[in-house]
Amino acid sequence: MSVTQYNELIDAASAARQRAYAPYSSFQVGAALVTTTGKIYTGCNVENVSLGLTICAERSAVATAIAQGSKDFRAIAIVTASKKPAIPCGACRQVLAEFNPKMKILAATIDGKVEEFELAELLPLPSQGILEGARDV
Ligand code: THU
Repeated sequence: MSVTQYNELIDAASAARQRAYAPYSSFQVGAALVTTTGKIYTGCNVENVSLGLTICAERSAVATAIAQGSKDFRAIAIVTASKKPAIPCGACRQVLAEFNPKMKILAATIDGKVEEFELAELLPLPSQGILEGARDV
């Protein structure tokens, strides 16, 4: 992906962040997934008074994309107002790995710090052995 495409993805995540529903933590998160054909799907965190039912921005973006018929994700951008770029939580890493363990992760702050990772370095071996023997593999 070119720098322009990276910036477009970060901008989309930034816009989605504005729609975050985060009355409990006040920590707003935006995410934007891009597919191999260049389609972009966004998500934001959706908190709940139970706290435990909170949905992270990354998983919200995945659900939106899947519901729209896309699953070939190339990269995801995450935007937060933190000092250091925030990287996806363990649960989100696992959900992202379902679709592309080598997905590029762009973690950005609203003041322009960007860090890039590959999902595999944040979550090695996401599914080894799981469901073997329980299904026809
Ligand atoms: N959160 C995300 O949406 N994505 C992350 O990568 C980290 C955390 C949300 C969940 C909760 O609404 C708030 O940020 C604080 O954890």
